[in-house]
Amino acid sequence: MSTLRKIITEKNKNCKSIWFMRQAGRYLPEFRKIRSKNKDFIKLCLNSELSSTITLQPIERFKIDSAIIFSDILIVPYALGQKVNFIKNEGPYLSEINLNTFFNTSEDDFITKLQPVYSAISKTRKKLSKEKSLIGFVGAPWTLIFYMYNLKKEKKLNYLFQNLQKSRILEKLINFLCIHIKKQVEAGADVIQIFDSWASLIPEDKLAAFCYNPNYQLTRFCKEHKIPVICFPKGLRKNYLNFKNEVKPDCLSLDYTLDVSWAKENLNDTVLQGGMDPNYVLKSDTEMFNETKKYLDAFRDVPYIYNLGHGLLPKTDPLKLEKLIEFVKGY
Ligand code: CP3
Repeated sequence: MSTLRKIITEKNKNCKSIWFMRQAGRYLPEFRKIRSKNKDFIKLCLNSELSSTITLQPIERFKIDSAIIFSDILIVPYALGQKVNFIKNEGPYLSEINLNTFFNTSEDDFITKLQPVYSAISKTRKKLSKEKSLIGFVGAPWTLIFYMYNLKKEKKLNYLFQNLQKSRILEKLINFLCIHIKKQVEAGADVIQIFDSWASLIPEDKLAAFCYNPNYQLTRFCKEHKIPVICFPKGLRKNYLNFKNEVKPDCLSLDYTLDVSWAKENLNDTVLQGGMDPNYVLKSDTEMFNETKKYLDAFRDVPYIYNLGHGLLPKTDPLKLEKLIEFVKGY
């Protein structure tokens, strides 16, 4: 069994593991080389040969314990009929949602469109040693909706909260995210992470409907299929505690705004992951090591997976990351 699975399923405190969100990406020159020749990002995600190569790039370079499949959370809205474009320095932009297409996309169409992701997972699993996990992932429904309705541009949050609750959009997303999880696992993913990167935008009285409940349903699905599941409800602050109690994930990924002692005191009955601000990897060695110590010391006596409080930044120097990995492994 992989070290990551061992920590999560056995709550093994003596087992250490390290990987990074966004470890396969823009800070790596070998990724940028491939990317410069593949202008269409979604097409690149659906090129199973290249996706597998990119997934393995950080594994070949660093002493890390897990690979995360190179894909994107927005591959799901894509498979449900939206065009997904990435505008330089602006991020993702999705074509206007067509609810007919969205609701009429069948399970078979959806799986056919995403088949290259599953092939990439099988290819990668074959090349990865048994001690290493291959992490599959999905975006949580709310975070997908944030992009599906281009909420960054248009301030229609309130309208959406009013109307979505009554609609079947959440339900359809949850069903199809479960299919995507199941297919990733059948292809060889052995841990699932659920990214709720925009959970912080949900008002307090809507958290149950838009965050806890959808994450709970996806988590329950993983548990029913015996797949260890990590949840990342970014920006929930003290509501991380409610999230833990309501959703009951196998592992909770901490974001960089959480106070370390608060997290240790309030969340220590579950396996924890991450926490440090990715900006520290851009600072001096001393600053980076001191901050790292804070996390390693605080979580010394609980099952803890080393990671950061969000994804690696594009400006990260790979050599700096190597120093961080060596420090964590040697501490
Ligand atoms: O973690 C990994 O290395 C695996 C692959 C992965 C990507 N995106 C590749 C990617 C994963 C797990 C994601 C998750 C993802 N995608 C999230 C959740 C995590 C988080 O960061 O909060 C979100 C919100 C997205 C949506 C998304 N995709 C955005 C906002 C962007 C543009 C800016 C950015 O953050 O990179 C992307 C594009 C994207 N996804 C790139 C990569 C390597 C960059 C593509 C490029 O321009 O070269």
